[in-house]
Amino acid sequence: LLYSTLFTTVGTISYFSYELYEESHPPVQVPQAATFKNGSPKKNLVILGSGWGSVTLLKNLDTSLYNVTVVSPRNYFLFTPLLPSTPVGTVELKSIIEPVRSICRRAKGEVLYLDAEATDIDIKNKKVTVSNEKEGLLKDLPYDYLVVGVGAQSTTFGIPGVFEHASFLKEITDAQSIRSKIMNNIEKAATLSLNDPERKRLLSFVVVGGGPTGVEFAAELQDYVDQDLRKWIPELSKEINVTLVEALPNILNMFDKSLVGYAQDLFAKHKINLKLKTMVKNVDDSKIEAKCDGESIEIPYGVLVWATGNAPRPFAKKIMQALAPVQNNRRGLLINDKLQLLGVDDGSIFAIGDCTFHKGLFPTAQVAHEEGEYLADVLQSNYAIDQLKFKISQNRDNVEEFANLSKSLISLEASIKNFNYIHAGALAYIGNDKAIADLAIGQSKYRWAGAWTFWFWKGSYLAMCMSFKNRMLIALDWMKVQFIGRDSSV
Ligand code: FAD
Ligand code: NAI
Repeated sequence: LLYSTLFTTVGTISYFSYELYEESHPPVQVPQAATFKNGSPKKNLVILGSGWGSVTLLKNLDTSLYNVTVVSPRNYFLFTPLLPSTPVGTVELKSIIEPVRSICRRAKGEVLYLDAEATDIDIKNKKVTVSNEKEGLLKDLPYDYLVVGVGAQSTTFGIPGVFEHASFLKEITDAQSIRSKIMNNIEKAATLSLNDPERKRLLSFVVVGGGPTGVEFAAELQDYVDQDLRKWIPELSKEINVTLVEALPNILNMFDKSLVGYAQDLFAKHKINLKLKTMVKNVDDSKIEAKCDGESIEIPYGVLVWATGNAPRPFAKKIMQALAPVQNNRRGLLINDKLQLLGVDDGSIFAIGDCTFHKGLFPTAQVAHEEGEYLADVLQSNYAIDQLKFKISQNRDNVEEFANLSKSLISLEASIKNFNYIHAGALAYIGNDKAIADLAIGQSKYRWAGAWTFWFWKGSYLAMCMSFKNRMLIALDWMKVQFIGRDSSV
């Protein structure tokens, strides 16, 4: 036993050290260049965004085959599945981000990064305008291939007052703002007398949208109240009220009904106030107005978190305008089965992830990840095709060689398969150390719920992390919460 414990400990420490060393000591990169050694031009690949789609592409692509430039206003990759855990401190924000610079530096060929956003596009002349007002940057980037992976923004459906008064849960800054609003309200409420109605309002935390974002955040919030605030502010914590508002008759519409029932029962048991069939119509600075079964109701709130899904970002809308009437879907950019933007005949623009609307696929990290992997293969094949075309252009006088190369080109072009999404399933944390999993393995479906599923949920997300460093920090955060609990300061 002693030897096997020693062996396992040494093995684990060596493995961790090796992984961390590898990650923090990237090898020398192939520099960017105008041409390859054979004189063929090296094409410009511009990747917009640093989210699930674009970063997966970067990690899977041999970047020495192109002059790659990444443009994103966010200089880090954000591991969104654990974002709902961050406002209450189950996981620290720094644990779920990975700097774009590190990701670019680990690629095989040099990758340039521009902290900017794409604001306009000239499809005819293959140029994308990028700008960063703060740093006074405005320039046109020429591209041979462009990958649009700009994601989506939170939607409000134009409901009055949402932008002004609610917090979204999409970015790091959103998580920080929710945290400070919650803690400030708690401190403010503590200064008021017990029968002051303002005290009750300040301690009403309302989440609108019973999709996975809203559900996971409401669950985390109630955990925080039950597991931590109850210890440090026992009386006041009993007054905190978490409400989840959903327009449909049930939450988590994408999950099997049995799992939905399990989640709703757990919410009821843990005193999360579930308001179903309640469609929010208006928001002001202290209450939401909604329609519930045809009746108008008002729900006062102290902190309001809005999670009702996605809408296209301004740059995606710009592309839609440029490619109207082909791009006519309000939900996202239309692409073909090779992920090429509809309306661009030469196939030079690809779009992946949440900014697209393709065959009704849900806007998930899983879809964006698979699209990024697929696109890396396509771009690898496109490089081979471009090389063949170059050789053909050099062998126009050699009839036999020309015919052979042309044949290879046709078969290579035909070998690029269509994107085929393989749905592995959906997971959601529902609170009190329980999760649900709706899995699809081959033709079989598996539906799990409960404490063991929570461990499966944890394992799956650790496996999905973009770096070993993230994996380690998240695991340490979870251990910290288990042993010393979450922090209760702003
Ligand atoms: P994103 O990851 O959003 O990345 C878009 C990138 O584009 C960002 O870097 C952004 O800064 C950049 N950008 C924006 N505008 C521009 C511009 N004009 N020019 C250049 N760059 C630009 N999915 C799951 O499958 N499982 C989950 O558990 C899960 N949990 C989630 C939890 C939360 C709280 C949220 C909000 C989403 C969750 N999702 C989950 C959905 C998942 O995060 C998205 O589907 C995924 O991020 C989409 O990847 P993307 O690359 O298309 O966009
Ligand atoms: P969503 O689109 O999944 O859910 C939004 C919910 O808000 C819907 O149930 C809708 O009925 C409700 N709603 C809309 N307007 C409303 C109103 N006015 N009043 C009350 N309710 C209203 O959005 P969400 O949760 O933001 O997720 C966005 C995407 O990210 C989804 O595709 C989701 O699958 C994915 N995601 C996946 C996660 C996971 O797999 N664990 C976690 C978080 C997000």
